[in-house]
Amino acid sequence: MKKIICILSVFVWWSAVAQKAVIFPEPAEMTVTGGFFTFDARCAFSLAPDNGAMREATEVFAERVRKSTGLDIPVAAKGNIECVLSDRIADDEGYEMTVTSRKIRIAAKSPAGVFYALQSVRQLLPPQIEADSVVAGADWRVSCVRIADAPRFAYRGAMFDVCRNFFDKEFILEYLDILALHKINKFHWHLTDDQGWRIEIAKYPKLVQKGAFRDRTMLTQTVVLPRVWDNTPVGGYFTREDVREVVEYARKRNIEVIPEIEMPGHALAALSAYPDLSCTGGPFEVDGRWGVFNDIFCPKEKTFAFLQDILSEVADMFPSKYIHIGGDEAPKVRWKRCHHCQELMRREGIADEAALQAYFTNRMESFLRNIGKTAIGWDEILDGDINRNAVVMSWRGYKGGIAAAKRGHDVIMCPNKFLYFDYYQFDDDRGPLEKRHRIPLEKVYTFEPVPSELTESEGRHIIGVQANMWTEYVRTPEYARYLLFPRLTAYAEMAWGTNGDYARFTERLEIFKKRYDALNINYAN
Ligand code: ACM
Ligand code: ZN
Repeated sequence: MKKIICILSVFVWWSAVAQKAVIFPEPAEMTVTGGFFTFDARCAFSLAPDNGAMREATEVFAERVRKSTGLDIPVAAKGNIECVLSDRIADDEGYEMTVTSRKIRIAAKSPAGVFYALQSVRQLLPPQIEADSVVAGADWRVSCVRIADAPRFAYRGAMFDVCRNFFDKEFILEYLDILALHKINKFHWHLTDDQGWRIEIAKYPKLVQKGAFRDRTMLTQTVVLPRVWDNTPVGGYFTREDVREVVEYARKRNIEVIPEIEMPGHALAALSAYPDLSCTGGPFEVDGRWGVFNDIFCPKEKTFAFLQDILSEVADMFPSKYIHIGGDEAPKVRWKRCHHCQELMRREGIADEAALQAYFTNRMESFLRNIGKTAIGWDEILDGDINRNAVVMSWRGYKGGIAAAKRGHDVIMCPNKFLYFDYYQFDDDRGPLEKRHRIPLEKVYTFEPVPSELTESEGRHIIGVQANMWTEYVRTPEYARYLLFPRLTAYAEMAWGTNGDYARFTERLEIFKKRYDALNINYAN
């Protein structure tokens, strides 16, 4: 019996591949039922309820179809693409979909599920659907299927660093569209660092006037001597209007944009503009070297006021539940020698500089909580006793995440040796600049986010995962895409929780490559 089931499931898979019913991340349950639904001039949506949110959930898909097929899909009373909200569906982002030759029926708990069902339809359509102008003679059919789908994790994130090298709004919008295609629902935007401050803050204009530009960039690794410099200036930042556009573009794609404002470390760009917020008074330059720097924010009242002003503006610009406040790689060299820091520790009974960072983090966390936001920090914030409301991003392996979950923090897993996509993929790719670890596709695909050290209730604190892209050695969109793909596709399936057999994944990926090509993604082959 087992053998028959096995042969049958291989057959179902092969027929899915043969009919190009290949969707990433793979739906939790999918059956190819035979036959096709055709997109033509008779197609229309029918929405229940027919309201703004439901219309919006269909808009991104309708626009894609309009661009490449020339077809307009109106909303009508009796359309053949039925989208219905239903309490029968348990998961907020889940959906059920039946495609027959006459109809597409989608049921979802929320408009997010409708949006995701239509992203699945997008992938059932041929790759030409990705074109930005009308493609003649394409076969606009989708295989008939029955799908029941929902993600394993509510937090499926992707971080992109626009500080080390600047990536503009057009790149970010393109990236968001690719994230949406992969049902990734959080975009962590790393906006401030030693090498550039990339977000306009009305109250402190020098942050971008001075902090968003640097004169030169190191071309060699920090540890490699002699250092080689590129003297081309690097700079750029996002205005309030850019941010509004990015947030809105993301929202329409079920993506929450989570800004990161780094503190107390990785602060040189800010300190170059406001040096009296440091322990020494500076002066500082926006740095063109990589690494970890000793000059960090000094925990003075005026620093806290400054950061709170910034977080208030940021909270205003980003409707996200979360705001990331960094916390990683903050050396205590300056704090140990700073009269103010030592006096503050005596006055507040703070045992050591690690506890001083916890004091710093807790003040910021409380501030954010009072304005209705939840703070996220890198796992170094665990070095002191921090408020349980803070969410911990475990990047230095699993350990931080395990400790945090045991202490009762929610955790996002992004261990660098599995999910840092700036690390190289192939030994052949290991140029003089690439970072230390090789992360092949299979390692991403087979990653298990919930460590076996956790009990079941502790494990529930692992709210999700994140893939991170740092850009010290990534200077162009082309190279970013090369590093991201296909690892991001493997990541998305792992985050969705349907990562199974790796060999089978690579077979399906062969078909997906045509879609990468259509999207102009120069993936690593
Ligand atoms: C990190 O990679 N420094 C969070
Ligand atoms: Zn100080």
